[in-house]
Amino acid sequence: MTVMERFSLGPFPVARIGFGAMQLPGPGVFGPPRDRDEALTVLRRAVELGANHIDTAQYYGPNVANELIREALYPYPDDLAIVSKVGGCRDGTGAWLPADEPDELRRGIEDNLQTLGVDQLAAVNLRVMDSDAADPGQPGQLRRERFAAQLTAMVKARDEGLIAGIGLSNITREHLLFALQRTEIVCVQNAYNLIDRSSQPVLDECTARGIAFVPFFPLGSGFAHDNPILGNDLVNRTAARMGRTPAQVVLAWTLTVAPNVLLIPGTSSLPHLEENMAVAGIELDDDTRRQLSALA
Ligand SMILES: NC(=O)c1ccc[n+]([C@@H]2O[C@H](COP(=O)([O-])OP(=O)(O)OC[C@H]3O[C@@H](n4cnc5c(N)ncnc54)[C@H](OP(=O)(O)O)[C@@H]3O)[C@@H](O)[C@H]2O)c1
Repeated sequence: MTVMERFSLGPFPVARIGFGAMQLPGPGVFGPPRDRDEALTVLRRAVELGANHIDTAQYYGPNVANELIREALYPYPDDLAIVSKVGGCRDGTGAWLPADEPDELRRGIEDNLQTLGVDQLAAVNLRVMDSDAADPGQPGQLRRERFAAQLTAMVKARDEGLIAGIGLSNITREHLLFALQRTEIVCVQNAYNLIDRSSQPVLDECTARGIAFVPFFPLGSGFAHDNPILGNDLVNRTAARMGRTPAQVVLAWTLTVAPNVLLIPGTSSLPHLEENMAVAGIELDDDTRRQLSALA
């Protein structure tokens, strides 16, 4: 078996290929899984194959992803870093709503601890809501006073031991610099992939500072009907030439972007999980990497 490279997520040296739990609940990340047994098997197999970084949220389901993680993996391996996020919630129809007042962030952290059955999480991301964005689909703008109050709640939770590290998600470089003046940040989670590199300045800042950068939607997301990444011609031709799958090519490319990039591809399928974990053993030659990099 390939020994997977690691990078530090705060004090946790985690394998560069982890697992994102967002695809485990039902359609629209809402309600019970399509196949509960497969969801539990996917989680256990991810850990068997070397993933020791699992990304989740109380609002995946809601509750569903966390309950599956607990059922599949509790008592947790000592080296497992479970990372969650706060800032959002769901209503009874599955709509995504903000829950990002300081007291809601605190409750969000406590809910995660309770459903996952732990006293401390490796990290929790403060997820800046899209509703704070000037353009839909882009990270929220920096609202200084509001963000400072949110950070204070996160720092308090960390100083009280509820979380080992503070992460940020869906942020601009300005958010990161603002936060770093106040506290240590162990990871940043923004949308980033072969086609959408709008978070490159945030990634570069993380790389320069040794902060883990965890791209979400690395495969173009489970929401896309016409996936521009897995359906891309060059990706498909490269995969055919290498005898790999498009997802493997895309993930292998993402790992080459910077050493602090930690993958958390999301899947509810055992064959897809096994494909994704096998990316640890795939090397792209310089030409292939250059061609793929030119796609953005
Ligand atoms: N911080 C945030 O705001 C935020 C936002 C979104 C996501 N996230 C986190 O980031 C993780 C990754 O993002 P994501 O799950 O939304 O999107 P993603 O990893 O880009 O893509 C997931 C989609 O790709 C499919 N897939 C996975 N492996 C595949 C393979 N080998 N071949 C073909 N299709 C494959 C999945 O379907 P199958 O289930 O059929 O495999 C699913 O439809 C999430 O799980 C979540 O933990 C965070």
